[in-house]
Amino acid sequence: METMGSLRRTNYCGEVSMANAGEQMTVCGSIARARDKGGIIFADLRDTTGILQLVFDEDTPKEVFAKAESLKSEYVVICRGVLRERAAKTDKIATGDVELYVSELRILSEAQTPPFEIRDGINVNDDLRLRYRYLDLRRPSMHEPIVLRSKIMQIIRNYFTENHFTEIETPTLIKSTPEGARDYLVPSRVQPGHFYALPQSPQLYKQILMLSGFDRYFQLAHCYRDEDLRADRQPEFTQVDEELSFVDENDIMTINEGLLKRLWKEVLNIDIETPFPRMPWDEAMGRYGSDKPDTRFGLEIVDVTDVFDGTEFKPFAAVLEAGGSIRAINAKGLASKLTRKNIDKLGEVAKTYGAKGLAFSRLTEEGTTSSFEKFLTEEEKATLYKTLNAEVGDVLLIVSDADWVKACTALGQVRLEIGRKYGLIDPDKFNFLWVVDFPLFEYSETEGRWMAMHHPFTLPKAEDIDKVESDPGACHAVAYDIVLNGVEMGGGSMRINDPALQDRMFKALGFTEEKARESFGFLMDAYKFGAPPHGGMAYGLDRMVMLMLKKDSIRDVIAFPKVQNASEPMSGAPDLVDEQQLRDLSIALTQPE
Ligand code: AMO
Repeated sequence: METMGSLRRTNYCGEVSMANAGEQMTVCGSIARARDKGGIIFADLRDTTGILQLVFDEDTPKEVFAKAESLKSEYVVICRGVLRERAAKTDKIATGDVELYVSELRILSEAQTPPFEIRDGINVNDDLRLRYRYLDLRRPSMHEPIVLRSKIMQIIRNYFTENHFTEIETPTLIKSTPEGARDYLVPSRVQPGHFYALPQSPQLYKQILMLSGFDRYFQLAHCYRDEDLRADRQPEFTQVDEELSFVDENDIMTINEGLLKRLWKEVLNIDIETPFPRMPWDEAMGRYGSDKPDTRFGLEIVDVTDVFDGTEFKPFAAVLEAGGSIRAINAKGLASKLTRKNIDKLGEVAKTYGAKGLAFSRLTEEGTTSSFEKFLTEEEKATLYKTLNAEVGDVLLIVSDADWVKACTALGQVRLEIGRKYGLIDPDKFNFLWVVDFPLFEYSETEGRWMAMHHPFTLPKAEDIDKVESDPGACHAVAYDIVLNGVEMGGGSMRINDPALQDRMFKALGFTEEKARESFGFLMDAYKFGAPPHGGMAYGLDRMVMLMLKKDSIRDVIAFPKVQNASEPMSGAPDLVDEQQLRDLSIALTQPE
């Protein structure tokens, strides 16, 4: 192994082009691939910016050529030479027009054969990739998103800073407060039996910062939630968190449209159209069966409740009796694809999301197969067909439920399944949407009480303030989510800045006065000393990067992600700790293993 000696990088591999031809330069990195053709050796050198081909031949100094012969994949080198036009050009790499004719080579580190080939397009099992994450991250398709993520963070910082925001860090060892997901806890050594929580978001601190007169705050904040993993959910993730004073929700949405416009332009060179459409939550649920509708395709849900007014068909009649709702989708022209078998599969999807079943009519040239039409009157059938604009070639899918949200949710999932499976979604589209006017509360069957849908500090809509106690289910919030292609990218709300209203909210959420004081006393006190009107929002940065780069999982845009059981396979966290460490923390395990 050699040292760099006096050699220092003059250029990055991915940044050279024909414009540099004839220049003497020094580059460094890892050997992606070496090919000894006898008398001539080619080696691809990879650094963080890309790949450059190195060449050695019979005119290369002998000792350099000998070293080149020993090059293997992943050897780390620094070398000097002259950039020249490449004889056999390629467009497979960005620098495919040029190559470096090497005159000096130093091998800085040799490498074992890696457990998998380090190039794109290989099929390697995920466990192995994550265990050797450092190798996985050398692959261009894994490396680039992390570099772009950094660029995205930079643009975000610039945008907010230009717009009078102050970047402020808030603590990550904080008080555990109720509501929200399960906390990660950290034991205190000096106060035995006491625990910090890791923040689920900087929510309380950023509100307090508005009371401290900072006017506008932002932070790229690490957040922790002990919840099950999904493709767009990790136990630790990053928020682009913001809070603004002396604004209303429209101001916040406008400022954020500006941020997204800038990001899409600077990162992807795409002009996105602003302002984004806004859709009330009730409408999103009704038309798409989701509070994060994917509006890249139609297949909208239609309310057909009225069609069945007075029907003899028992399942629908029972639902109507219970004040429920009947909703339908017309899968237009999909009869040939939606065979009975495929419809049954959709029925399973509907059931997973709480539907009792999925009624269907499949309209083909050969006739109609239906699970329910024989129970309908001619008039009901005609009205149904008219309402859904049903024609031969269509498939009608219906869910009924006493709870309209449940009916829509199940059908919404069926809609998504059809959209994905039968190619109705244009992957090139970026469809942004604000979903606004969320319900203020949602009822939790398990808790037996009303819970805050967003969080307890969210401002009710002015016209609903009087109903907070008397009719919580009917109240809406000044809350908004930014949805992109069916993913909740971010969300926020205007906050309550009137201590009396905040007290009423806590009561409506079932807090006793003592419990509210114990959990949020510091916040309640703070609001007594003068609070500007304020609100804010937070994006999931991981989700934002995933969506921008069209990745399937946030794992692909996080350097060291966690896996299903919330462990980090490379380092092996979480792990057991020494008895002594536990004793220091006054912790005894009930189940040591
Ligand atoms: P919320 O809980 O909606 O709001 O979170 C904001 C955004 O954070 C992202 N997100 C996640 N990303 C990855 N993994 C997770 N486990 C995860 N959980 C949430 C989502 C989500 O839209 N304090 C409020 C914001 C506010 O009111 O200002 C908050 O945290 O993209």
